[in-house]
Amino acid sequence: MEIRVQKVAQSRIGEIDFDNIPFGRKFSDHMFVCDYEDGAWKDARIVPFDYFPIHPASMSLHYGQTIFEGMKATKGKDGQPLFFRPEQHAIRINASAYRMCMPAFPEDLFLKALHQLVDMDQAWIPPQEGSALYLRPYMFATDEFIGVKPSSKYRFIVFTCPVGPYYPKPISLLADTHYIRAAHGGTGEAKAGGNYGGSLLPARLANEQGYDQIMWLDAKEFKYVQEVGTMNIFFVMNGKVVTPSTDGTILRGITRDSILTILKDAGYEVEERPVEITEVVEAYQKGELDEIFGSGTAAVVAYISKLKYLDTVMEMPEPSACKVANFVKQTINGIRSKTVEDKFNWIVPVGNALAR
Ligand SMILES: Cc1ncc(COP(=O)(O)O)c(C=O)c1O
Repeated sequence: MEIRVQKVAQSRIGEIDFDNIPFGRKFSDHMFVCDYEDGAWKDARIVPFDYFPIHPASMSLHYGQTIFEGMKATKGKDGQPLFFRPEQHAIRINASAYRMCMPAFPEDLFLKALHQLVDMDQAWIPPQEGSALYLRPYMFATDEFIGVKPSSKYRFIVFTCPVGPYYPKPISLLADTHYIRAAHGGTGEAKAGGNYGGSLLPARLANEQGYDQIMWLDAKEFKYVQEVGTMNIFFVMNGKVVTPSTDGTILRGITRDSILTILKDAGYEVEERPVEITEVVEAYQKGELDEIFGSGTAAVVAYISKLKYLDTVMEMPEPSACKVANFVKQTINGIRSKTVEDKFNWIVPVGNALAR
């Protein structure tokens, strides 16, 4: 499908101070839009970023058929704009679409839209190291109808926002033993809006107890670790790197997958399996819990400063002592900036519309 292009008359890029970008509040000149009606995606277009009207009965506002992705375009050391594993986001948004009973968005059109949009707005990729152009592909129901059923109309959009360097502070976590994020058979593996809406109250209550985020436990027994906010979670215990398996309740993080690949390739002992919270506590008590870190697109790696479960507060080492976290972080950032060999072919230069 051809993408129709309508350019802005005047770029707004002069309004941006690239040394001081408020996260998620500044939007670049253009956005990609495509509508689904009568069983087909139609009218793919790149247009000036702007408001659009929405009908009060628009089904996404009522029944939550809304899914999204989060990804980044960065510049290599040579200034070349590039994506990191963009095809994985195309695959994942369609997995989310399937679970939420929404139509798949063609993967080749998803990639073409990203390439064309970021190529046009590449001046919006901040030049500072660690900065990025954040991309937000999303899809929502637009049928004007009151009644619970799958919508027959959808809109797919990609907009982008420049974001400054992310200096992740170590994060404190509370393992919640009252609220849950996802149950087996639920929507935990989908990147669906409702999963995030439901996490806000427990997160606020954790904040009130002095913790930055919640570490979710399983919905049945509060026994197994799931994930954290917008991150998957890794434990380094007794020399092994352990992360919860993707059992349908956690997001299949693309950073998680990249970290597992890098660690296995580097010869680390890695286990993807159910992780009991009591096993983590026991490792801590024996002095065998070396590191805990979260993984996600935003920070690549977030160091965990402490983890509370019931009455046990596990204090973790300083970031500089987190060898595994630092190794994977430097490797992924190095692949992104082209200072580390991209041996897994994860980097895709922007403009290469026929990307894998
Ligand atoms: C719930 C959840 N878990 C994990 C992640 C990490 O996924 P990724 O590494 O693909 O950013 C995210 C972020 O997208 C998330 O929202």
